[in-house]
Amino acid sequence: TQQKTIPGYTYGTGEAARSPVTLDELARLKESVLLGPADEAALHQAGTVLADQVEDVLDVWYGFVLAHPFLVAYFSTPDGQLIDDYQRRVRARFGQWILDTCNRPYDQAWLDYAEEIGLRHTAAKKNATDDAPSVPLINLRYLIAFIVPITVTIRPFLARKGHGPDEVEAMYQAWFKAVTLQAALWSRPYIAGDAW
Ligand code: HEM
Repeated sequence: TQQKTIPGYTYGTGEAARSPVTLDELARLKESVLLGPADEAALHQAGTVLADQVEDVLDVWYGFVLAHPFLVAYFSTPDGQLIDDYQRRVRARFGQWILDTCNRPYDQAWLDYAEEIGLRHTAAKKNATDDAPSVPLINLRYLIAFIVPITVTIRPFLARKGHGPDEVEAMYQAWFKAVTLQAALWSRPYIAGDAW
């Protein structure tokens, strides 16, 4: 499902982290966000709906970030200069993530890349992939809060291909569950030991 070679995108390679989360724990988290087989089907449908809209979705999300200086800061140098190259490279991986969220099986490789994405938001790996001279981490509270904009802004795109209201709602709810599931997984490297 990968469209082209994307700098720094290491899904399914030995360069990505290994997740310490077990597939059993992943199954329990999926149950906790009510993500079941019908949602998986709805996600696949969303994948076809979103496939040719990825750049438009990214325009909305980056527009949201760029409209808020406290968010732009995470793509900037410590003294507040936006790092254009960093922003562009991350954007390409973000686009691929939209498709991966819809199309990939949530297996060991997916779990491993979830750990990698989590790490890339923390001090352990932020900036390393792109050698970016940016601030050291993304604060966890924003990672959690972002579930809302990443979810609500997707709805108009899901409705744009002529599906009925029930189908759009099913895709929307499945997307919400998939994003929340990943935010839960991405929180892991922020949190030491048993507390996660
Ligand atoms: C990286 C999604 C929250 C800033 C990424 C990537 C994805 C992503 C898919 C690229 C992963 C890869 O390298 O393959 C999300 C989602 C979020 C979220 C779904 C919340 C639900 C945030 C927040 C910020 C942020 C709140 C702050 C503005 C960044 C930055 C990177 C990044 C700066 C690059 C990290 C690096 O240096 O590698 N995010 N993100 N993200 N995100 Fe987020």
